[in-house]
Parts: sequence; structure tokens; C-alpha cells
Amino acid sequence: MAKHLKTSLLSLLPLLPLLVATVSAGVFLSIDCGSSQSFIDERNIKWEGDNLYIGHGRSFVVRNRGSVSRAMTTLRVFDSRRKSCYRIDVSGGGRVLVRASFYYGNYDGKSFPPSFALQFDANGWDTVETSLDRPVSREAIYVVSGDATSVCVAQTQPYQLPFVSAIEVRTLEWSMYAHVDPSRALFLQRREAFGAQQIVRYKDDVYDRIWSPSTISKTALASDTSFIVPDSMDRPPKLVLRTAIAPTQQSSSLILPTYLSTSTERIYVNMYFSEMSELESTQMRSFEIYVDVVNVSVPVSPPYQDFIELSFANITANSNTAIELRATADSTLPPIISAREVFLVSAALSNGTNADDVNALGTLQRQFKVLRDWNGDPCLPFSYHWEWVTCSSDEKPRITALYLSGYGLTGGLPNFGALTALEIVDLHNNSLSGEIPDFLGNLPNLRILNLAYNSFSGSVPSSLTQKTNLNLE
Ligand SMILES: *[C@@H]1O[C@H](CO)[C@@H](O)[C@H](O)[C@H]1NC(C)=O
Ligand SMILES: *[C@@H]1O[C@H](CO)[C@@H](O)[C@H](O)[C@H]1NC(C)=O
Ligand SMILES: *[C@@H]1O[C@H](CO)[C@@H](O)[C@H](O)[C@H]1NC(C)=O
Ligand SMILES: *[C@@H]1O[C@H](CO)[C@@H](O)[C@H](O)[C@H]1NC(C)=O
Repeated sequence: MAKHLKTSLLSLLPLLPLLVATVSAGVFLSIDCGSSQSFIDERNIKWEGDNLYIGHGRSFVVRNRGSVSRAMTTLRVFDSRRKSCYRIDVSGGGRVLVRASFYYGNYDGKSFPPSFALQFDANGWDTVETSLDRPVSREAIYVVSGDATSVCVAQTQPYQLPFVSAIEVRTLEWSMYAHVDPSRALFLQRREAFGAQQIVRYKDDVYDRIWSPSTISKTALASDTSFIVPDSMDRPPKLVLRTAIAPTQQSSSLILPTYLSTSTERIYVNMYFSEMSELESTQMRSFEIYVDVVNVSVPVSPPYQDFIELSFANITANSNTAIELRATADSTLPPIISAREVFLVSAALSNGTNADDVNALGTLQRQFKVLRDWNGDPCLPFSYHWEWVTCSSDEKPRITALYLSGYGLTGGLPNFGALTALEIVDLHNNSLSGEIPDFLGNLPNLRILNLAYNSFSGSVPSSLTQKTNLNLE
């Protein structure tokens, strides 16, 4: 089993492909959903309203404010679409951390916190079960392939309307969290600062990761130095490296649960180790890491005024899996640990709907303003396609129908001839004008074309009249 585990010591960093060439300007965006105002919070983070990112849904203010942060007091609720997507520009792509937060706060007075689906781009992310009295958050780290990413919510239960309270997007360095290939996302389970008294995040963490004090009750240790942390791999904030925990007893082993639910999952674990004070010459701290009693590391001796990070990118774990730090025979001191991150590794991400088809839909959206408010992937995840299209069931779906009747479309039809898989084009009952364009007759699979109740002029192009299987209604 040990061979399934990928260990990489900080000192082996050159093994990583160094694609770091561009430290891109990056995105550090905080959207206060359901609000139209911007403000600066107590961490000096600028929040903005969500008007620029979505055009539908209804804004609400929570009834039960409790002690939540300002961004949690407003929300946007969706009741009309199969899915509702925020579109966020990430020009140049790159690796991002995306955090979506949900605080029900009894905004509708029904004391009934809903459950719904969360998605990003063409992929499922998680089921969100909201709570009556506390915010819930989900965090994902993934590589954006195009120039934008979308965060979507979708109804899955009758009467349970999806909503969003906040969306935060932070660009990470390309070198961070790079032990999984870019076709997979990391879904955060736990990010712990051992021995810390309070949450560590921005500005102590420039990427605004949230490091929570651990609930594992062990002896908390604090560093006697404020050393300079070298830039490295996952760039943990200094503050989380200045505390640690060790076993309470003289025990030589420290056991850390993985906090998984029951199913077997592939997980990604980062662990950060630093010595808290200079050891006497007679002292020695050395330990090895075991996953379910299998030795997965070389002996670790945390350095003073520096740190070591270990990454395990491919652990197969379930709710019983434990990670154990076990002192080696020659160690005179118990194991210590300063910080840890545990992620689920996603299945291979979808490449999305056929790119030519997506571009052609973009042509329609540029021409007709009313269509611009559909974001995210037009077809995926399956069964969460846009209202006005249907899709083939291919792994890379094609658009097979346009249902745009009664959308109030005015003006001429742009050329969407790239949608060569179209079988049905229903444009009836709009105010379309100009000539009926030629390209419609060249759509190779077109079976039904409905242009009735518009203001087209001129004659039907010969490309169309020659087709015998068309229903021009
Ligand atoms: C992860 O481990 C599984 C078995 O546990 C193996 O089949 C798979 O190839 C590994 N993947 C990577 C990327 O190492
Ligand atoms: C654990 O594995 C490492 C690396 O393979 C090895 O150096 C070490 O001796 C092993 N420890 C034990 C107790 O087998
Ligand atoms: C996405 O595209 C890449 C490259 O063409 C391919 O290797 C991968 O299998 C695709 N992923 C899926 C889920 O189809
Ligand atoms: C035509 O579309 C409008 C909306 O633009 C709708 O209110 C009306 O019911 C539609 N009429 C028919 C006959 O489909």
C-alpha cells in the first residue's frame, strides 16, 4: 500500500514542474451576494455587491443576525432556473481557491433551512445542507482552464430554494497544491492550526486561507522565535508555524483523524512541522508517519526557525482512517505538528460542452441581451442544462436544440451555424426581423425550424426550401 502514497519532502521540490513563470496579477474577489453595496471588513478585505455577476434571483436580508459577519447578513435566492451561476473573470486562468458561504438566517421566516446542489463550471461540487443558526462554507481549489469560472447552485428538493450568501475567489501561485494534476479539484475537509488560540487568515495568510484551531486536545506548544519563513511550496502563513501540539502523555505517538464521512475517498493531506525551540544536544525529535499502520514517510525531524512540509497526494481513506505520527526508536521527544490540511480529491473534471458550440451560444448572447444572464456550462452537469437549449449525452455534449420561443428577441439573427448538431430551432413568437439567414439551411441535422410569428422579410433562402424534412410552420 505504501507505494500508493506519494510523499514529497520540501527538499525534493525540484521534482515539481516549475511552471511558475508568471506570478499573475491574480484575483482577490469577495462578493457579498444579495447586496448592492460595497464595504471594507475588519480584515481590510473589500467586499462588493453581486449585481455585476448575476442578473436574476431575489435579494433578502436575514432575520436572525446572530453574530455573523456582515457579508452573511444578505443573500440571493433563486426560484426560477434549473441552475443559477455567478460568473467570475479569472483572466489568464490559473489555480484558484473558491469559497462559497451560505447563511440561511431564517430570511423567509419559515425556520426551514434548505438543502441544494453546489456546482462549479461543468462539475458537481457538493450538496449544501444549510443550518438555521450558523453559516456553512465550502472551499475548492482548482485550475481554471479558460478566462472565467462559474459557481452555481441548483434546486434538488421540492420547496427548498437554493441561495448564496458570499463567494470569495483568490488566485493561488501555480506551485501551490500542485501534487494533483490540473484535471482534478481539491475539496477542503479541514484546515487546522495546531496549538493556535484563534482562527488564522488574511492578512496573516495572504491567500486568505482559513486555519482553524484544532479540536484535538493535546499539549499546545508555542515557538520561542519569530523566524523568517522561506517561501516554499504551499506558502503556509508564519503564524501557524509558531504553534504546535504534542501528545499529552509521555506517549510517543500522535493520532490525527481524517474527519471523513463513511465512504472511501481519495484524499490529499499536507502537514507542516516546525521545532518550537532549539534542542539540547542530548535531545532528538524524530518521527515517522503512518496511515492505517502503514509507514509512509522517512523519519522527520522538524527544523528550528524553519519548517518541513509533507504532502500526501493519494491516500485512500475512509472514516476510520487515522494518520499517526510515531516517534522513531532513537527519538527522545514525542512527535509534534503545527498545521494540516485535508482535502478530498475530485473525480476527473469535465472538459465541458463542445467549445465551438459554447462560442456560438456566446454569439447569440452578445446579440440578445436577455440571454446573457445564463452562465456556467450550457449542458453540464447533466440534467442542469440552460432552459433554452437541449444537449446530446456525449461526454463533451453538443447543443441539439434551441428553444427560444417568446424570449422577446428583436433584430436580426446572428450566424450560429457552428451549432452543427442542432436538430430543432424554435424561434417562434419573437420580434426577429431582417432576412431569414442562409446558414439555417446548411445546418446538417436540422429537422424542425419554427420561425412563425416574427417580422422576417424577404424570401425563404433556397438552402431552406430545398430541404424536404423541414417544418417551417
Ligand atoms: C492513487 O492510488 C490508487 C490506488 O490506491 C491508484 O490506482 C492510482 O493510480 C493512484 N493515482 C495517482 C495519481 O497516483
Ligand atoms: C519507514 O519508511 C522509511 C522510508 O521508506 C524508512 O526509511 C524507515 O526506516 C521506515 N521505518 C520503519 C520503522 O520501518
Ligand atoms: C479532458 O481532456 C483531456 C485532454 O484532451 C483528456 O485527457 C481528458 O480525459 C478529458 N477529461 C474528461 C473527463 O473527458
Ligand atoms: C409569446 O411570447 C410572449 C412573451 O414574449 C408570451 O407572453 C405569449 O404568451 C407568447 N404567445 C404565444 C402564442 O406563445
